[in-house]
Amino acid sequence: MSFPNFYLVVILLVFRYHSWILRSQELTCNLNDLIALNGFSSCLESDILGWNNSTSDCCTWTGVTCDNSIALSKRVVSLELGSKKLSGTICDSLAGLHQLRILNLSHNLLRGSLPTKLFRMQNLEVLDISDNSLVGRIPEEIHLSSIRYVNISKNSIFGPMDENLCKTSPHIQYLDLSVNNFFGEVSPALGNCASLQYLILKGNNFRSLPKGIFRLPNLRVLHLQNNSFSGPLSYGIGDLSNLVELDISSNSFTGVLPDVFGNLGKLQLFSASSNNFIGFLPISMLNSPSLTKLDLHNNTLNGPINLNCSAMTHLNSLHLGSNNFHGSIPHSMSSCKSLSMLNLGHNNLRGQVPYNFKNLQALSVLALSRTNLVNLSSTLKILQYCKNLTVLILSENFREEQIPSDVNLQFGSLKVLSIAYCELRGSIPLWLLGCNRLQFLDLSRNQLSGAIPSWFNMFKYLFYVDLSNNSFTGGIPKGLTELQALIDMNISLEGPPVGFPLFRTGIGGATFLYKNIWSFPPTLDLSYNMLSGPILPTFGNLVRLHVLNLNENHLSGSIPESLSGMRNLEILDLSNNKLSGKIPNSLVQLSFLSKFSVAYNELYGEIPVGGQFMTFPYSSFEGNDGLCGGIYSQCPHEHTPIESPGEPMTVVGSQFGYGVATGFVLTITICFVSGWILPREAPFEQGSIQDTLLAARGKSSHHG
Ligand SMILES: *[C@@H]1O[C@H](CO)[C@@H](O)[C@H](O)[C@H]1NC(C)=O
Ligand SMILES: *[C@@H]1O[C@H](CO)[C@@H](O)[C@H](O)[C@H]1NC(C)=O
Ligand SMILES: *[C@@H]1O[C@H](CO)[C@@H](O)[C@H](O)[C@H]1NC(C)=O
Ligand SMILES: *[C@@H]1O[C@H](CO)[C@@H](O)[C@H](O)[C@H]1NC(C)=O
Ligand SMILES: *[C@@H]1O[C@H](CO)[C@@H](O)[C@H](O)[C@H]1NC(C)=O
Ligand SMILES: *[C@@H]1O[C@H](CO)[C@@H](O)[C@H](O)[C@H]1NC(C)=O
Ligand SMILES: *[C@@H]1O[C@H](CO)[C@@H](O)[C@H](O)[C@H]1NC(C)=O
Ligand SMILES: *[C@@H]1O[C@H](CO)[C@@H](O)[C@H](O)[C@H]1NC(C)=O
Ligand SMILES: *[C@@H]1O[C@H](CO)[C@@H](O)[C@H](O)[C@H]1NC(C)=O
Ligand SMILES: *[C@@H]1O[C@H](CO)[C@@H](O)[C@H](O)[C@H]1NC(C)=O
Ligand SMILES: *[C@@H]1O[C@H](CO)[C@@H](O)[C@H](O)[C@H]1NC(C)=O
Repeated sequence: MSFPNFYLVVILLVFRYHSWILRSQELTCNLNDLIALNGFSSCLESDILGWNNSTSDCCTWTGVTCDNSIALSKRVVSLELGSKKLSGTICDSLAGLHQLRILNLSHNLLRGSLPTKLFRMQNLEVLDISDNSLVGRIPEEIHLSSIRYVNISKNSIFGPMDENLCKTSPHIQYLDLSVNNFFGEVSPALGNCASLQYLILKGNNFRSLPKGIFRLPNLRVLHLQNNSFSGPLSYGIGDLSNLVELDISSNSFTGVLPDVFGNLGKLQLFSASSNNFIGFLPISMLNSPSLTKLDLHNNTLNGPINLNCSAMTHLNSLHLGSNNFHGSIPHSMSSCKSLSMLNLGHNNLRGQVPYNFKNLQALSVLALSRTNLVNLSSTLKILQYCKNLTVLILSENFREEQIPSDVNLQFGSLKVLSIAYCELRGSIPLWLLGCNRLQFLDLSRNQLSGAIPSWFNMFKYLFYVDLSNNSFTGGIPKGLTELQALIDMNISLEGPPVGFPLFRTGIGGATFLYKNIWSFPPTLDLSYNMLSGPILPTFGNLVRLHVLNLNENHLSGSIPESLSGMRNLEILDLSNNKLSGKIPNSLVQLSFLSKFSVAYNELYGEIPVGGQFMTFPYSSFEGNDGLCGGIYSQCPHEHTPIESPGEPMTVVGSQFGYGVATGFVLTITICFVSGWILPREAPFEQGSIQDTLLAARGKSSHHG
């Protein structure tokens, strides 16, 4: 190697060494932070994907953000490991991240108690450890001088709050303690948290509120629902003049609603459902210009429903169901132009739907079941002008009226129609055909007669049809086996903006609660009619169907083998008909079938063995003189050909008795009204939390 070349090599080497130093300076995170993170990770049972212990630059690890400082080492300012399936405990060592501003460990499987040191981090602004399995007391001493957001929701934490909470942590804006094990009086210490804007205490066992809460000057959201608060609602609530949301539902509040809504000029949402409130609606509430959502269902409120719609210009959703309101539905309500959801069901109302309801052009959901309404004909004539109507529930009214047959009725937006339990007369009207978006139809428990029309195949989205307990005659039309939504997996069904809980009464009176219409199982219920003729083989095409109930009709012929094509079927009831022939073996392929009955028919031969057939009780088969085998008995002539149906084999029978009267009966009843949750979607100023986060993040880049 010649002399100049040697220098060149040295220069090159020096240069490379120099740039290596530079790079490592750029990359290396602070040693203390590295130790803290390694300590944290050593308490976890799971590895964190993207945490590579052989690179000491923790700033590149998943969920870790460092500041932009040009100092020799960078500081970790944010650790965001939400929804990472982390299990194990949270170690105290995490508190060694002295510059940490954001800690998000939410939606994991973390166990154990809260590390005390975590609640003494001086730079922490956002602490989200919600939705884990953390237990025990909240630390006795909390000292988070920069904290703005604390969320420990969905754990099993309890305990009194540090009395000095808001002296030591004066900037707290969001405090979410929901769905934990807190009990007793809400800590009076919270009364000193002047900066508090969101106080979310729902889903605990709190019993009383300290007076101090009513003095929080900046409180915007107060959620107290689903606790054990009792007694009257304090008039002090009227002092919270910045309140935007107040939810006190599902408690045991009593007495009258305080007439303080005049002071709550920003209140948009008020829910007091499922309490024991009595008396009239307060005047100030009936004149509130700010309210958009009002939910008072399931109380014992009474008096007339006398909203002042000239004042309540923003009212969008009104739920007064299941109370004792009386009088007629006021005409003036039609001036509530923004009203899009209205539920007055289960009240002592009377009369007709007011004519000028046709002005409610924003109306999308209307539920008026069990309100003693009369005149279905005029009701439909009026409501057809509400062009946005998607959900119409009118059940338990119009006793014994005729279903209107006026072909000009138009309900082009309707997705859900329920006029059940009315003992209506007449036949299925032709105007229904115009409801071409229909998804859910319940006309059960009427006295409708005639044939089921052939045009059901025109409904592209229909997935739930209950025509049970009527007097329909004739055959089952092929159209019912051609419902696209029950055949084609590709048709997606979407609900209107709100779901309201519905009850379904099932076997043995058990009730099932459904969050909304769209969580009902795809169903065809034609039970308790007088339908005759065969069960069409084309039923087998309904791969999406979950419930097929043909119980109590006069159906004859054999059970088609093709029924095994309904591969999602959970309930199949063919009992109390005149079906003959054998039970097709193919039915053992229905692997989701949990309820099955062919009781009281004229079936014969061997009961199939295998699949779900190993689980059905004897009562599923009783009342068929010719059935044998299965898991119940042996057929006498197992290897000989089956005798003709004329000479049925009577093997099973007396030894089992008639324990269950008529097999199982599935009745599906909808009582909607009682539920109906207000939509929980981000109520307002969705950005608030984001802003807090952005502000915290923003600071980390200013360092650079
Ligand atoms: C960890 O980092 C080292 C050095 O950068 C690299 O060689 C190794 O492949 C990494 N391991 C994983 C699992 O990413
Ligand atoms: C990472 O390495 C350090 C030092 O080698 C060790 O102390 C620590 O336990 C390791 N952490 C993990 C999670 O492997
Ligand atoms: C924490 O992370 C989760 C994602 O897992 C996110 O949904 C949540 O909004 C985060 N919390 C905060 C306060 O940003
Ligand atoms: C707290 O966390 C829960 C669950 O992660 C979340 O649903 C809730 O919105 C959060 N609360 C606030 C005020 O951000
Ligand atoms: C109310 O809280 C209880 C437990 O405290 C919980 O089981 C229930 O699901 C909650 N109900 C609602 C409607 O949130
Ligand atoms: C109605 O409120 C009572 C308490 O007042 C509660 O026990 C019941 O579950 C509520 N019913 C419904 C359907 O919400
Ligand atoms: C209804 O509200 C309007 C507008 O706020 C008001 O002028 C009117 O006096 C109110 N009517 C009643 C009966 O309170
Ligand atoms: C009717 O519904 C459509 C679509 O949801 C909506 O854009 C429109 O504003 C509604 N009409 C009224 C009067 O609210
Ligand atoms: C139903 O209402 C219409 C229009 O208001 C009226 O003409 C008709 O007489 C009413 N029918 C009954 C049975 O009250
Ligand atoms: C059918 O309706 C009648 C009268 O409405 C009622 O008594 C009967 O219990 C109902 N049966 C079923 C199974 O729903
Ligand atoms: C459903 O969609 C898939 C692709 O999106 C398509 O290949 C298939 O043919 C569709 N099925 C029907 C019955 O339309």
